[in-house]
Amino acid sequence: MKDYGDKKIVLITGASSGIGKSCAEYLAQKKDFHIFGTSRKASIPPIKTSDNLEMIKMDVNNDASVEEAINYIFKETKRIDILVNAAGFGISGPIEETSIEKAKEQFETNFFGIHRVCRKVLPILRKQKTGYIISISSIGGLLGLPFQGFYSASKFAVEGYSEALRIETRPFGIHVVLIEPGDTKTSFTDRREKIISTDKDSPYKEYFEKTIKIVENDERNGASPEEVAKLLERIINSPHPKTRYKVGPTSQKFVASLKGKIPDRSIEWILRKYYKVY
Ligand SMILES: NC(=O)c1ccc[n+]([C@@H]2O[C@H](COP(=O)([O-])OP(=O)(O)OC[C@H]3O[C@@H](n4cnc5c(N)ncnc54)[C@H](OP(=O)(O)O)[C@@H]3O)[C@@H](O)[C@H]2O)c1
Repeated sequence: MKDYGDKKIVLITGASSGIGKSCAEYLAQKKDFHIFGTSRKASIPPIKTSDNLEMIKMDVNNDASVEEAINYIFKETKRIDILVNAAGFGISGPIEETSIEKAKEQFETNFFGIHRVCRKVLPILRKQKTGYIISISSIGGLLGLPFQGFYSASKFAVEGYSEALRIETRPFGIHVVLIEPGDTKTSFTDRREKIISTDKDSPYKEYFEKTIKIVENDERNGASPEEVAKLLERIINSPHPKTRYKVGPTSQKFVASLKGKIPDRSIEWILRKYYKVY
């Protein structure tokens, strides 16, 4: 067991790239934190990449892998103060043409991956009577995005899960928080799995291609992942964090904030016009 002094122990899933990596590196520069970042490509024991950052192997799709990583960390640190669930990916394509198998893959990582990690970390936080669980949702967790239906659905699931978990764990001093980024410049865009019927006569083909071009362009010109890292620091320094925080391009935050304030039909109109689904 090492001596981490007064440093807060932070576990960040999906820390090899994009938002998770940015959060890990940003907090590692501060003297108050020691970070364990996860990647499927790392190892156990972890690889130390700087004084305050170690990369440990974890596949959030796999019970044994999650258990092994968290057992290792807890054996070393005897506590976990902050969990950031950032591991995730996107699939895109027409809902009608998405197989159950592909839809389940999306949920396996983006939703069940979070539950797998939370189930192992919650007993630790509960016994400590303190801790933060911060999950990276998306603006797509607030608005059903065309041709990203299962991605949106997986993030809507994360939203409901976190709202419920926040209430259940309040008596144990645990803060459950959602971060909802808009388009952010990361490897997410290149890693997205595109699902489209091999049938060249797919009725959705033209709409899908137009929409995904706009989506990809917005992401490639999106916000810096460091914006999320700065927000994360603000949240974990807050004794009473809110349920959810939007971050990223102002126009996307604005449209998402209209939900519930203007008729759904008007939001649909904005999305149809913007993504050229007409
Ligand atoms: N980029 C955006 O515009 C945007 C907007 C809103 C929300 N988000 C959300 O932000 C989160 C991070 O995405 P990003 O944009 O940073 O994408 P990214 O650059 O592609 O990073 C994804 C991270 O997730 C990890 N990952 C993927 N599948 C995993 C698995 N089964 N087990 C463990 N780790 C896994 C990857 O690690 P390894 O491959 O090394 O294992 C990688 O570190 C995701 O939840 C995404 O939905 C992104």
